[in-house]
Amino acid sequence: MSVLQIITAVILILDSIHIDADEMLCPSDHICVPAANCGETGDILYPCNENYTHVCCSSSNTIVPAAGGIESRISVFPSDCGIVSVTDRITGGELAAMGQFPWMALLGYTQRGINFMQFLCGGSIITNNHILTAAHCISIDPSLKLQVVRLGEHNLETKKDCEGTVCTTYVEIEVERIIVHEGYNNKSLENDIAIIKLQKSINFTEYIRAICLPFDGISDRSIPTGGKLTVSGWGKTDSANVGGSLKLMYTVVNVWDNLKCNNSVPPKIRPIRETQICANGKKKQDSCKGDSGGPLVNSTVIGQDYKTFQVGIVSFSSAMICGNVELPTIYTKLDSYEKWIVDNVE
Ligand SMILES: *[C@@H]1O[C@H](CO)[C@@H](O)[C@H](O)[C@H]1NC(C)=O
Ligand SMILES: *[C@@H]1O[C@H](CO)[C@@H](O)[C@H](O)[C@H]1NC(C)=O
Ligand SMILES: *[C@@H]1O[C@H](CO)[C@@H](O)[C@H](O)[C@H]1NC(C)=O
Ligand SMILES: *[C@@H]1O[C@H](CO)[C@@H](O)[C@H](O)[C@H]1NC(C)=O
Ligand SMILES: *[C@@H]1O[C@H](CO)[C@@H](O)[C@H](O)[C@H]1NC(C)=O
Repeated sequence: MSVLQIITAVILILDSIHIDADEMLCPSDHICVPAANCGETGDILYPCNENYTHVCCSSSNTIVPAAGGIESRISVFPSDCGIVSVTDRITGGELAAMGQFPWMALLGYTQRGINFMQFLCGGSIITNNHILTAAHCISIDPSLKLQVVRLGEHNLETKKDCEGTVCTTYVEIEVERIIVHEGYNNKSLENDIAIIKLQKSINFTEYIRAICLPFDGISDRSIPTGGKLTVSGWGKTDSANVGGSLKLMYTVVNVWDNLKCNNSVPPKIRPIRETQICANGKKKQDSCKGDSGGPLVNSTVIGQDYKTFQVGIVSFSSAMICGNVELPTIYTKLDSYEKWIVDNVE
């Protein structure tokens, strides 16, 4: 079966779920348990019931959930953030399934003399009218104006995207205001973070949803060296609108030690700071697959739910050629910008 056929089959099974189907949905050595009972973290787990409250957990990792409440949320951030209703964990592919990364945003720019919208950067939905992105995406080129944000996109080539019998259409919303971090430095790329306020509120669907932020009830915020994180995007870079993928892709990257990273980046970028994350994937699979400004994510159990939260923003790659295992990609570390984000979405 092709990846698409498997994904389609999974979606059809999810459509007609019943108790017996639960076990069938999980790979061997996995059982369907409430998300809070699964000790497996850091990977995107596969949901196995209709409300997505249960996940396929490897039998050895099931745990008794710890007692304790959920930290209270700041009200502007949606409480149903970071929930994924579809994943292709079973196929393990690099091609995202529709709805696997529902918080993905594409930034559309207009340019004098060019009569079509250019999509040059990524971003993530953090509230019902704010998009998080990289500051360098705002000032790519003086002739480019950030005009719209496209949400719910999957395949850039088609207006209507379908998998099996399920179809979705993207939504575009005009930009109202852009807030660039006041400490952004366009040489060292320090504080490479910006927030886009949209003119209209986003209507959330299964394919358009906010991502959780790291200060949003996550008890363990450390990002260990060697740990795995996921980056997604169409692989467009801000230098050229070519060579990307037409369909949303994702890849898993490993976190680097900042000291090792410091020695691998161009001198003008040094030193790598505590406000940055360094990571790289396998050969030919690093965040060249992700758009600049797009999210670097991790998943864990928050309260009763299995949720995905953003830990970084794709800032820049030190490699001229994608997928050089010796050279890392640098991400803005969100945990360092909690106050700035909260202050700028209110
Ligand atoms: C799923 O959610 C619906 C609506 O909230 C609820 O009525 C139903 O009992 C839930 N099903 C399960 C299996 O939790
Ligand atoms: C970089 O920042 C400096 C100082 O803020 C500014 O003068 C310059 O125009 C910026 N360059 C670009 C390419 O945005
Ligand atoms: C959200 O839904 C409402 C009601 O259907 C509609 O009027 C509005 O245009 C939608 N907003 C966006 C940004 O799509
Ligand atoms: C991902 O999240 C889990 C659960 O909070 C945590 O244990 C793990 O260290 C995180 N991984 C990274 C690379 O941050
Ligand atoms: C990072 O590299 C620069 C330039 O090589 C060096 O001066 C600095 O001490 C290094 N910082 C750390 C923390 O290693």
